[in-house]
Amino acid sequence: MTTSTAQTTPPRHFLSTLDWSRSELESLLTDARELKANRRTIARQDLAGKSVALVFFNPSLRTRSSFEIGVFEMGGHAVVLEPGKGAWPIEYRDGVVMDAEAEEHVEEVARVLSRYCDIIAVRAFPKFQRWEDDREDLVIRQFAKYATVPVLNMETITHPCQELALMLALKEKLGTTDGKKFLLTWTYHPRPLNTAVANSALIAAAKFGFDVTLLCPTPEYVLDSRYMDAAKNFAAEQGRSITVTHDVDAAYAGANVVYAKSWGALPYFGRWEEEKPIRDAHKHFIVDERKMALTDNGYFSHCLPMRRNVKATDAVTSGPRSLVIEEAENRLHVQKALLRRLVGLGG
Ligand code: CP
Repeated sequence: MTTSTAQTTPPRHFLSTLDWSRSELESLLTDARELKANRRTIARQDLAGKSVALVFFNPSLRTRSSFEIGVFEMGGHAVVLEPGKGAWPIEYRDGVVMDAEAEEHVEEVARVLSRYCDIIAVRAFPKFQRWEDDREDLVIRQFAKYATVPVLNMETITHPCQELALMLALKEKLGTTDGKKFLLTWTYHPRPLNTAVANSALIAAAKFGFDVTLLCPTPEYVLDSRYMDAAKNFAAEQGRSITVTHDVDAAYAGANVVYAKSWGALPYFGRWEEEKPIRDAHKHFIVDERKMALTDNGYFSHCLPMRRNVKATDAVTSGPRSLVIEEAENRLHVQKALLRRLVGLGG
């Protein structure tokens, strides 16, 4: 936490892995492996006397559990806040007349929590009305602007902690990720979902040296140029490739990893009734045994929560190459490594 007399050097935030180098992320994964290996044998006090605010604008099972438990296992305290539910609704735009629902402004929230806590973690999903607005990631950026302690992304328009958990699971199984084939496949869901995990999977896979294929129903489902361009740059730096295809069987051929996620097409934000017929026409993108048989004995994973037999079949989800539980477990370990780093430990 910072006090009123503390110096004002801006803290290093963890808003997106775009701001963190591969070697920094690799170092976090190395720490996470050690924390995982020694979890039951070494009692840690890295966060003794420290507190972490977990601010949830949206529901969670894994993120909330793994952060609360991770802080506890390192001797710290986590306070969970749900604005608009157990905490006051927050206005996050600057300069507005606050005569609607919000009772306090993010400037006060971030500055007050910075006096109490050592890290502020935020989950704030897009509004799904105008992608041009959502892509600004305003809620967490406003927290970062006003906080005097590190701000950590628990999922906004990217999900960097999920990225790290996935990369750890893949390194555990594949050894090296360099030169392996990573398929990110869109899958059907009855509602349009956040692009956060897809954005994150794309940039993480590219940053960690995979040849990446993005499989989606139509060109409208291609991800935002910020992430597509970043992935292409990471790939080019390492002599790897980013391929976009709408051909299901060609995409699965020879893949080492199949990562499934559903998302809403960006041009249809706010016009979802027009997107629905396209989505409904692509239920066959479900990950099933036939498609997985086209891979190079590939691993399957998903960030969870996941609708079974909609996004992936029971056989794939519960099968021997499924990493969904390992990836979810790894959230705990990578986040502990990250929390240590944000308070100046590790690395
Ligand atoms: N994967 C993930 O973030 O899960 P929750 O939404 O349950 O936190």
